[in-house]
Amino acid sequence: MEVLVTGGMGYIGSHTCVQMIEAGFTPIIIDNLCNSKFVVLDRIEALTQVRPLFYQGDIRDESFLDHVFSQHNIQAVIHFAGLKAVGESVSQPLAYYDNNVTGSLVLVRAMCKAGVKSIIFSSSATVYGDPERVPITEESPIGATTNPYGRSKFMVEACLSDFFHAQPDWSVTLLRYFNPVGAHPSGTMGEDPNGLPNNLMPFIAQVAVGRREKLSVFGQDYPTVDGTGVRDYIHVMDLADGHLAALNAVGRQAGLHIYNLGTGNGASVLEMVDAFSKACGKSIPYEICPRRPGDIARCWAATAKAEKELGWKATRTIADMTADTWRWQSHHPQGYQSES
Ligand code: NAD
Ligand code: WQD
Repeated sequence: MEVLVTGGMGYIGSHTCVQMIEAGFTPIIIDNLCNSKFVVLDRIEALTQVRPLFYQGDIRDESFLDHVFSQHNIQAVIHFAGLKAVGESVSQPLAYYDNNVTGSLVLVRAMCKAGVKSIIFSSSATVYGDPERVPITEESPIGATTNPYGRSKFMVEACLSDFFHAQPDWSVTLLRYFNPVGAHPSGTMGEDPNGLPNNLMPFIAQVAVGRREKLSVFGQDYPTVDGTGVRDYIHVMDLADGHLAALNAVGRQAGLHIYNLGTGNGASVLEMVDAFSKACGKSIPYEICPRRPGDIARCWAATAKAEKELGWKATRTIADMTADTWRWQSHHPQGYQSES
């Protein structure tokens, strides 16, 4: 079965393509490479012995999308493409609304023309804002987002929900990821942020490998186990498997399907630092700094709905996440940079 994967050269998309190929799907990737490298295709091929078809282009380019749809018998779309840096979204909101919101609308319009009626969208736990209670269920209120990136995810969810109500024969799946981390266990694929990492795990990994001097821990006065922020870190391979589970369970079933993809467990910043130290056998220098504006104290997923309806559950541990991140980072200290 041919599945269009937008943003398939990126961090989560590339791992998902590997798992899709292993499961017998045929991913067709489109990506404009604004945040990924061509060499990822070689890595997917080396791991699976299959080189996925790749079209370089932008999801906002409707005639490009029309062309891709016309060349294949695409049955479903997994839509990863978008911009994802929270800080950058504050300084460049239009770029975020254009890529994430306009891009999604253009994609859905092209799907309509091509008669493809199944979309799985990369949403985020950020749509829940600062949750009143944890674990966060799919029924928790959404929309109290604190930055343009988060609002773009909320807006696309709203657009897709409205669209589904007008076209109830579609399958629309919104997957709300918690904190994706880790890398392929081979050490050949992983996260490769441009410039200073925004997120905790790549920052720790770059400290461990000697690219950064020390980690800034943003706040130690939260009402949590040790005062640092608590998040639900999920291994990118579990996340990839979650997409396959969604595709199999609901991707061909008409409906509006909404799932959290998380582990159901929270870990603090200092717990992650400690786990990474164990994985790499070095201490990770850090200093306690003021809170980062917009951060919340704690956030983890209720996972029962995905378990029951998708038959999917995250199984990889924090030790797996840190070991796999370290294998990738230590084998590729500069990420994909020197290899494309
Ligand atoms: P990523 O940046 O590694 O991958 C996104 C890919 O989309 C990149 O390869 C980029 O080149 C491509 N792209 C961006 N804009 C495009 C456009 N207009 N046309 C074509 N291609 C385009 O990010 P990721 O971490 O793999 O995230 C994938 C999706 O999951 C994103 O939508 C992101 O917002 C969402 N998400 C990510 C996280 C996270 O922490 N990584 C958490 C929740 C949700
Ligand atoms: C995790 C914890 C920080 C960096 C973001 C987006 C969210 C989603 C995932 C896409 C927090 C602390 C971090 C550092 C630190 N992305 N931290 N020092 O903020 O939960 O979520 O990425 O959808 O939308 O907001 O993830 O990895 O940035 O932070 O102390 O250098 O680590 O304060 O407690 P976050 P994160």
